Amino acid sequence: MNTMKSILITGGAGFIGSHVVRLFVNKYPGYSIVNADKLTYAGNLENLKDIEDKDNYTFEKVDIVDAVAVNELFEKYKFDGVIHLAAESHVDRSILNPLEFIMTNVVGTVNLLNAAKDHWKDDFSNKLFYHVSTDEVYGSLGEEGLFTEQTAYDPRSPYSASKASSDHFVRAYDNTYGMPVVISNCSNNYGSFQFPEKLIPLFINNIKNNKPLPVYGKGDYTRDWLYVEDHAEAIDTIFHRGKLGDTYNIGGFNEWQNIDLIKLLCSIMDKKLGRAVGSSEGLITFVKDRPGHDKRYAIDASKLNRELGWSPSLQFEEGLEKTVDWYLTNEEWLVRVTSGAYLNYYKNQYELS
Ligand code: NAD
Ligand code: DAU
Repeated sequence: MNTMKSILITGGAGFIGSHVVRLFVNKYPGYSIVNADKLTYAGNLENLKDIEDKDNYTFEKVDIVDAVAVNELFEKYKFDGVIHLAAESHVDRSILNPLEFIMTNVVGTVNLLNAAKDHWKDDFSNKLFYHVSTDEVYGSLGEEGLFTEQTAYDPRSPYSASKASSDHFVRAYDNTYGMPVVISNCSNNYGSFQFPEKLIPLFINNIKNNKPLPVYGKGDYTRDWLYVEDHAEAIDTIFHRGKLGDTYNIGGFNEWQNIDLIKLLCSIMDKKLGRAVGSSEGLITFVKDRPGHDKRYAIDASKLNRELGWSPSLQFEEGLEKTVDWYLTNEEWLVRVTSGAYLNYYKNQYELS
């Protein structure tokens, strides 16, 4: 039986974190959920409007790079469990500013590990540090093969190098101090509340506004896509039933070449916007490639299915259509998050290249 009561979720105002917070707050009224988030450009409390008044939910504005603040948080709430999602998450931004990624993703993670270790005082019974990571730590695949939990790490961007480093620290705290940890490595997520710097929401926004769709290189890169609510369900499953010290890969069994995905997205958008079929494809513009662009990611998530019974619930076409519907009915959200600093980032990333 699970006796955990006080749970820290970091990065809960971001894309995946907000879905995890919502799931835990609604599903576990007996848990006290504390969402600690710095509220960077990617963090938005509007993502949690529907649950912000619930009795079992608290928000704390905390920068995980600040060790004193992280310690105070542990002191105040006496956490039993941590689900750590806070991170700088966008590969293109990591190419522009690697140091920020080292600070949040590596130093921030070590600050959390230290606080957990100090407050749990080596009595780790009924405690858990769950670290949420990415399939990008495994590097890049050729035409064949899948990433398994045994695949050697080979990170190739500043983002994936910082995530790989944080994974190593989590495992080192298990090995050295006996910290109860679990790690999951997931493929590309899509769904509501994703910041429109990532491929799918960026392209939905551009199609809506008749702006060019900047496809890197020839668009022949492959990713595995998972609906974000399925990722949140997987995190719930692993948090409650995962084996201590283990790693679980999470994926959609759903590989798409970028250009095929983009054409599918164009056809869904044409239908939803009442445009002539094929018209949005005219917006596709091939632009300079991302430096060091990983060719293919593909995840073998069979361990999670075999051992804990999780599998994705949605077919991609259905999930993509739901996602498009969400962005089209939440236009104000998109307008708000794409004003201000976003405009400078967009100019720098796309209009000068
Ligand atoms: P996101 O960028 O949407 O959200 C990140 C959140 O972390 C934001 O709310 C931000 O304010 C917060 N944050 C950033 N720096 C912080 C700091 N110093 N202190 C406290 N909070 C801070 O990211 P996401 O896409 O939701 O990803 C969440 C996690 O899942 C990350 O660890 C990421 O590496 C991992 N992941 C993401 C994907 C994906 O496809 N998006 C896939 C696999 C794994
Ligand atoms: O695999 C998991 C990872 O997926 C997560 O760890 C990251 O946090 C998340 O950002 C995502 O990384 P990617 O780099 O794969 O996602 P992104 O949406 O940036 O790009 C998806 C693909 O689309 C990739 O091959 C690059 C391409 N792309 C992206 C953008 C933003 C374009 O062709 N044009 C673009 O403008």
